Amino acid sequence: MRKHIVAGNWKMNKTFDEADELVNDIMAKLEEVTLDANTTMILCPPFPYLEMVSDYGDDSYFMVGAQNVSDQESGAYTGEVSAAMLESMELDYCIVGHSERRAYYHETDEIVVRKVDQLLKHGLRPIVCCGEVLEEREAEKQYEVVKRQITDGLFHLSAEQFADVVIAYEPVWAIGTGKTATPEQAQEMHAFIRGLIAEKYGNEVAEETSILYGGSCKPSNAKELFANKDVDGGLIGGASLKAEDFIGIATAF
Ligand code: 13P
Repeated sequence: MRKHIVAGNWKMNKTFDEADELVNDIMAKLEEVTLDANTTMILCPPFPYLEMVSDYGDDSYFMVGAQNVSDQESGAYTGEVSAAMLESMELDYCIVGHSERRAYYHETDEIVVRKVDQLLKHGLRPIVCCGEVLEEREAEKQYEVVKRQITDGLFHLSAEQFADVVIAYEPVWAIGTGKTATPEQAQEMHAFIRGLIAEKYGNEVAEETSILYGGSCKPSNAKELFANKDVDGGLIGGASLKAEDFIGIATAF
């Protein structure tokens, strides 16, 4: 049975003390609830807080991921953080190809390829984001766009490598807007993505791939989103910044 994953993408939020408080709150709330045994929780804080967050819990509480990684191995790339560095901190996951990075930092599918390769080389699992902008959905181009992102960003991998990939479908029009995709829209796209994977790597790999939904996911809508057969969890932005909301989502299975 493929993993359910609820990952919190904190984006560029919180000071050190606020981040520390949030992890404390999450740990305290985790004592009060029981996560489904098949659910993995992942926290993705900003780079400077990765060590602090990692030091809090062992893997039985949550895993830790970065929000970005360099597409280069090492060297004179001021301000960048390499996959080797993340590996040396024993991190588990890293987000790649988020729409904010695509839109503001020109992260193309070619860059996504190099980042995914770096992560896999260093034993981290990439959480690869895809999703259409509003104009593309209005023009009914969402399938074409997502197919291109998945094919160009990931289908150079072997089946064995692909087994370590997590996909997050995040329709850009739903991110931070309060406008969530309907459970039907999410299910349709997730099934489409799983179909692409099945065509390329076969049913077994497709059935094992976790495909997360992201975009204004909250405790109030998580249950109906996660109830869909091809929705294996969520990549959560705003609602991951409050322990109560985040745990409310993580317990929605
Ligand atoms: P929101 O949950 O704030 O819409 O953000 C989703 C997201 O971009 C997660 O990566």
